[in-house]
Amino acid sequence: MNSTTSSSPDFTEIQAAARQLLAGELVAFPTETVYGLGADAENVSAIQKIYAAKGRPSNHPVIVHVAPGADLYYWAHSIPPEAWRLIECFWPGPLTLILPRAAHIPAEVAGGQDSVGIRCPSHPVAQALLSEFSRLKGNHGGVAAPSANRFGRISPTRAQHVRAEFQDVGTSPLTVLDGGAAEVGIESTIVDLSRVGAAGASTISVLRPGHISVAQLENVLNCSLAVAGSQSSEVPRVSGSLKAHYAPTTPLHLLDREQLLLTARNGTEQKAAVLGFGQAPDWLDPSLTWISLSDDPVRFAHDLYSLLRKVDNQSFEALYIEHPPEASQWSAVTDRIRRAAAAFN
Ligand code: TXA
Ligand code: MG
Repeated sequence: MNSTTSSSPDFTEIQAAARQLLAGELVAFPTETVYGLGADAENVSAIQKIYAAKGRPSNHPVIVHVAPGADLYYWAHSIPPEAWRLIECFWPGPLTLILPRAAHIPAEVAGGQDSVGIRCPSHPVAQALLSEFSRLKGNHGGVAAPSANRFGRISPTRAQHVRAEFQDVGTSPLTVLDGGAAEVGIESTIVDLSRVGAAGASTISVLRPGHISVAQLENVLNCSLAVAGSQSSEVPRVSGSLKAHYAPTTPLHLLDREQLLLTARNGTEQKAAVLGFGQAPDWLDPSLTWISLSDDPVRFAHDLYSLLRKVDNQSFEALYIEHPPEASQWSAVTDRIRRAAAAFN
């Protein structure tokens, strides 16, 4: 699951970025899911810079990224066997585990909660940065990083998306390591294991669907998992679980195929784009622009945010997107599109 390009930063750039993190500065870096806006996970003022740059409420936890082979007991005070099984199968990769936070890890990284989200990304640039930073920290460094976008906006899947989001933040330009287009294209699957074994609440739940599917997780754990959405107040706060999230600035409407084709035939009062499966129909209203969506869910996820950013910058007044199929392989992208469209309900 790697996505290197000829533009990949060399080791000198990685070292310089790791030193910036050590100095309490922010560095944006590629992962296989989306780009992250990183800070030293143990430096509270650096973490606060992330919240300020994103305009994100400070009670929203961020994920700590670690290098392969990191000592997870430095971050989590207990790790259930289920977590080790998932780590064995899916790390490094697009899976975040929520575990009970070790006492010395600042609460700020977890938005004040007693848990911590940990992920070991597979992208070689992320791994190089994390390994180098960890070395500088005496082999216990972790990088707190939410997606490198303003709060509520579309996550970046390319370095230029990050630059577009943060061009005017702070006094010095943001360092952005360019690792090419993110291979997965949507954020990691999040599994909450922070309450396994606690009295009366031995639940493992999926807080955010992603490239690693619920079926894959259930297969490894040999049990069925609760999936958030039916969230109780007990479930930890996840900003990606807000109803309106991942949104473009152009109003986005999610339509089933019948409604979409009706819109395509009749046109709208506005200059609009129609994002649908298959080729543009011959009878498409001439006021509309048809954009074909991939019928492969993996490709769809890879393209989704990049496509939304592109159409968002094309002076359309409205976007209409076709509801993906109901099959489970589509649940992660459907989740993201629903949340993006919810911003305009
Ligand atoms: O793929 C990804 O996960 C990307 C890349 C950069 O790794 N990161 C990402 O971060 O999507 P962010 O902050 O945009 O979303 C992380 C989600 C948030 O919804 C946050 O609330 C949740 O993870 N999270 C982090 N720590 C948590 C915790 N201790 N308890 C519950 N949710 C947590
Ligand atoms: Mg995000």
